[in-house]
Amino acid sequence: MARLGTIERPARKTHPLSTPPGIGGRDLLSLHDLTPKEVEFLLNLGRLVKGHPDRYAHALEGRELALLFEKPSLRTRVTFEFAMTEAGGKCITLGPQEVGLGKREAVKDVALNLSRWVDVVMARVFSHESLKEFAEHASIPVINGLSDFEHPCQALGDYMTLLEHKDHLAGLTLAFVGDGNNVAHSLIYGATQLGVRIRVATPIGHEPSAAVVAEAKFEGGDVYLTDDPAEAVADADAVYTDVWTSMGQEAEAEARALVFRPYQVNSALMNKARPDAVFMHCLPARRGQEVTDDVIDSVHSIVYDQAENRLHIEKAILLSLLS
Ligand code: CP
Ligand code: NVA
Repeated sequence: MARLGTIERPARKTHPLSTPPGIGGRDLLSLHDLTPKEVEFLLNLGRLVKGHPDRYAHALEGRELALLFEKPSLRTRVTFEFAMTEAGGKCITLGPQEVGLGKREAVKDVALNLSRWVDVVMARVFSHESLKEFAEHASIPVINGLSDFEHPCQALGDYMTLLEHKDHLAGLTLAFVGDGNNVAHSLIYGATQLGVRIRVATPIGHEPSAAVVAEAKFEGGDVYLTDDPAEAVADADAVYTDVWTSMGQEAEAEARALVFRPYQVNSALMNKARPDAVFMHCLPARRGQEVTDDVIDSVHSIVYDQAENRLHIEKAILLSLLS
């Protein structure tokens, strides 16, 4: 890797779309950036890494990761830091006060600077457009750690978790109830890649992006939108919800709480799913809003498995991007 003070420049990242199943050197801005084979490869590697952590204890020695946060985080920060360091690599975490992406310094300049010091960047940003701009100028792989449009690492960890609980994915029905947001978008792409039927119940006006749904359907995805939570959940294998007010939408919180009230996942709604249905949530949860305590604390809830698997899937992502 090139260092400051040397005249060597980091190699431009390439996009070798033709080198499945690894994703070496690429960006992971959207789950749609990956082929179904690549998604399957990452889920398998995630499970391997989880089962044999010692095997990868030195795999990322000499490699450096920068985490860039414009928004708060618990899971993403802890799991990426430990994914990197448990595999022998180094990690630096930069908060909003330190960087000021696009404010203190142009997005392009932050990308060009970090490209001289580290091997890979994970960024959590407000605007997906600024993430794309960052990746365009970075000569190293850039991972989306959540933008206003997608949360791909979350969806990969979630499908790994669902696979662990159900032993297969193709043919399962996942009901997403609530806001058609960043998490919903990545789950829709992932469902299409993995053969999962996805039903999304949102209030009118809060549907997922029409472009995401169209792309997913064009690629053979079984995506069904409704404004009726009971219809989405009927006989589902998994029921997923997320906060009604995402980070960056705080000014709308009160209005949203009213609109989304009928979309709460409570035991009456869960009872419409299959008896062996699992409850999923990316967390953080607003208990008493989108989910009741009796659901999130029930035996059906796999939310902490989802949180744990962020660590394993992110180690798999880093191994794959840096190999
Ligand atoms: N699910 C998730 O990304 O959690 P954090 O916001 O705590 O990182
Ligand atoms: N939709 C939520 C997910 C948090 C992990 C948000 O963007 O705030």
